Amino acid sequence: MSDVKPKFGLNPIEDVFEPPAPLLAGAHVSGLSSYQDMYRDSLANSETFWKRIAADLYFENASDRGLEWNFDVRKGDIFIRFMQGARTNVAYNCLERNIARGLGSKIAFFWEGNELGDERKITYQELLDQVTTLSAVLRAKGVKKGDRVAIYLPMIIELPVAMLACARIGAVHSVVFAGFSSESLASRIIDGKARVLITADGFCRGPKVFKLKQLADDAIKLCREQNEPVETCIVVKHLERVRIPSGADRPQVNYDDAVDVDYTEEMSRFAGAKSPVEWMDAEDYLFMLYTSGSTGKPKGVVHTQAGYMTYSYATAKFTFDLQDDDVYWCTADCGWITGHTYIVYGPLMNATTGIIFEGIPTHPDPGRCWNLVEKYKVTKMYTAPTLIRSLMAFKEEFVTKYDRSSLKILGSVGEPINPAAWLWYYKVVGESRCAIVDTYWQTETGGHIITPMPAATPTKPGSATLPFFGVEPVIVDAQGQEIEGPGEGNLCIKRPWPGIMRTVYGDADRFAKTYFASFPGYYFTGDGARRDEDGYLWVTGRVDDLMNVSGHLLSTAEIESALVAHHSVAEAAVVAAPHDIKGSTPYAFVSLKVGAKLTPALIDELKLMVRTKIGAIAVPDAIQYSPGLPKTRSGKITRRILRKIAEGDRKADLGDTTTLADESVIAQLWEGRNGGC
Ligand code: PRX
Repeated sequence: MSDVKPKFGLNPIEDVFEPPAPLLAGAHVSGLSSYQDMYRDSLANSETFWKRIAADLYFENASDRGLEWNFDVRKGDIFIRFMQGARTNVAYNCLERNIARGLGSKIAFFWEGNELGDERKITYQELLDQVTTLSAVLRAKGVKKGDRVAIYLPMIIELPVAMLACARIGAVHSVVFAGFSSESLASRIIDGKARVLITADGFCRGPKVFKLKQLADDAIKLCREQNEPVETCIVVKHLERVRIPSGADRPQVNYDDAVDVDYTEEMSRFAGAKSPVEWMDAEDYLFMLYTSGSTGKPKGVVHTQAGYMTYSYATAKFTFDLQDDDVYWCTADCGWITGHTYIVYGPLMNATTGIIFEGIPTHPDPGRCWNLVEKYKVTKMYTAPTLIRSLMAFKEEFVTKYDRSSLKILGSVGEPINPAAWLWYYKVVGESRCAIVDTYWQTETGGHIITPMPAATPTKPGSATLPFFGVEPVIVDAQGQEIEGPGEGNLCIKRPWPGIMRTVYGDADRFAKTYFASFPGYYFTGDGARRDEDGYLWVTGRVDDLMNVSGHLLSTAEIESALVAHHSVAEAAVVAAPHDIKGSTPYAFVSLKVGAKLTPALIDELKLMVRTKIGAIAVPDAIQYSPGLPKTRSGKITRRILRKIAEGDRKADLGDTTTLADESVIAQLWEGRNGGC
């Protein structure tokens, strides 16, 4: 736990960038002292602070309660509640509440397809109509309050429609990233016992067409084999309405009348149907979203109604300083928490005009993002360091040939941003006149917990700076003692904020053990952090067995179990190796069964194994043969040694190796690395 080291490329630079002066006038939080006053108030008068924010939203029933919690496993069960007794509906707050304010004809989303010229747009009123109709379809399929609905869709408007339709009727959505494999989808459907799946025939990204329906069919088959049948699969025939990248074919899609229904047909059948809003209790489940767990099995992170709603509304409003005329573009996928909170719920509650982009930043060329910024006059953009690094590799001309004068705030999320990427984002993209907000948070936190305020917080490249309102971060040492002032250790939070997760779906024990057992009395993020002399926080990365690849958390144990599922593999160990663009990448060491050889063909099979069991994102960049793995005498794999070998740092101090059962393994591994792949 105390093994906290700055990650690759994270040499801090101490330059300080003041908030851009033009942002200050009219900002929701203007100037550092306003932030400090509000922050102090949010801790000292938590209940009134959050009630004031919640007062912007609609509640069918009020509540006289604020945050209530137990963070201490020694005192009983862990729980967090917010506004107990209140009743509301999050979808209503995203749609009807805004329409009632006269915003029905405002654009909710521009949709930009993979191919140039493929575009759609939808107003708040049209979005409400579609959400209401789909909610009627879901009801007709037997979906009731509390039922889980799996959503496996690409970045098309039907994705937020599906999420909001569930929220309207109190069904718990479980969005599965469309880049995940059929096995990943099946395990999530089974864990949540979802009976309805919403998917699409396929989608396009860059030059490729992805056959999503095929994967959904495979998953449905796996669910049936496990006695958890999907009863209805609603299919959006997306490929039939878009341009297909040149050179690719429109795939043949199979339909099974016993399960599949056509989204468009169902929507026409129920057009105009009344499907009333379901008023939900404050702590009823809103959605679950799976995130990697260090034991390998993904955890279904549960978020509830009033708390998530208030927090996503507040963080979107303050961190992006959302104003009426903004055009806001978050490049994330709705399959991740960033898409949930900062494409769908937070921005819609703020009545913002957003962008949904199906394609990739390098198609048809690496200027696509800036082409979009110019085309839609984007004012606030939110992306990940991995995307910034990948675009830095191309000529600046791809950026500068487009007009970016509309940009005001540039956000970053998903992993620590190295100063070089920060500075490129600031100088090249933002012409040194935009605020950079490096937002630190997690699937579990629901929304930003450490972030600058764009018109208030001076920024330092690489630091997520200061806590959001109501968040009280502490750095604790390996013994669980708080480190006051400058120092480095484990990043914990001392008290809840409304958007914190409430449980792991179906596994309250795992919730308590994962987040509250390491340091009793605190929520443990799993990250290390350093606090500097100014109180600024620098998140240094995971201190557990999770790795962050292109801003996505992956479990080393999950990749290892995919590798050992191959009949030739005896044992596997996966560590994070540094990667210039992805931040880090899985590097696998495999021991083989007698008679097997790590040929290029076997490497391909192993990569396919990981792709099939988890998804393309988890495929190791390198797979190295290891005759044995470095283990202690008690049989524990010493990953720090493997990490050094993966990093290729021969001069690195490997620490004490005398406790290893067989020290000669290290020399063999270095040798294997030379001849490695
Ligand atoms: O390690 C931290 C890193 O991403 C983890 C959370 O991943 P996930 O739940 O998938 O959510 C990603 C999007 C919120 C964290 O534990 N992380 C996220 N943002 C930052 C970050 N690390 C440093 N700086 C950030 N801004």
